[in-house]
Amino acid sequence: MPNPQKYAVLDIGEKLTRYSPSFHHLGPDEHHPAEKGGRTRRLAQYYAKYDHNTKKAEITQLKTQLYVQGQSNKLLGHVPRHFDTVEDDLRSYIEYGFNVVDQNWPLSKYESEWLIHCHQIRVHAMPAVTGIPVPEGIHKDGAEFVLMGCVAREGVKGGISHIYEDEGAPPIFGVTLMAGQAILVSDRDVYHMVSPVIAEKDEGYRDMILMGFHIWSDGKYKGNWRENAIGVH
Ligand SMILES: [Fe+2]
Repeated sequence: MPNPQKYAVLDIGEKLTRYSPSFHHLGPDEHHPAEKGGRTRRLAQYYAKYDHNTKKAEITQLKTQLYVQGQSNKLLGHVPRHFDTVEDDLRSYIEYGFNVVDQNWPLSKYESEWLIHCHQIRVHAMPAVTGIPVPEGIHKDGAEFVLMGCVAREGVKGGISHIYEDEGAPPIFGVTLMAGQAILVSDRDVYHMVSPVIAEKDEGYRDMILMGFHIWSDGKYKGNWRENAIGVH
C-alpha cells in the first residue's frame, strides 16, 4: 500500500515529457560511462524561495558547481564530479515540484530558502550490456525530498523504482514509472533504488529528471547565490 506520508506516485504528463528532446544530446558521465551500461547526463542547480501562502516560488538558476554528494553515496560521494549544465529552463517544473511536496509535507514547517538540484539522466541499455541506473545501490540522496520523474523510456524493460524503509529489508513498494509519471519521496524517511534496465531488442534508454530539494542553509552550494546567478530572472 502506498504510504502518502513517505512517498507518492504522481501522474504529471506533459509537464514532464516536454523535456524529452534535450535528452538526445546529454554530456558524459565519466564515472559511469554509457557504453558500459551507464549514463549520459546534465546537472542544473537553482536557488529558490518558496512562499507557502501564495504557493509561488522565486527561482534563480546558479552557475553549475562540481557535484559532491557526500556520505549518502558510498561509491562516489567523496568525488567532486563535473556535469554539463542542463539546457532546458526547469523553473516552472521546479515550482510544480514545490507544490506537490507542499501538498504531501507542508512546507510551512521549513525554511523558505532552498537549493534545488536537477539531474537530467539517460541510462543506456544495449543487447549485450545491461543498464545500471544506480551503481551505488540502495541509498538516499541526502535531500529533504526527491521528485524522480520519468521523461521517456524506449525499448527497455526493467528499471523498477523500489522504496525501502530500511537498507537491509525488502522493498515496501515498487513501480515501473512510465513516461510522464514520477515518484516523490521524503528522503529522510525512505531509501530508494532502481533495478537494471534491459534492452528489449536494440539499444534502449530510460530518461529521468531527478529533482532534489535541499535546505539552503545546509550549505551544499558554495558561495553567495546572488553572485552565482546566471541568466535573467
Ligand atoms: Fe537517488
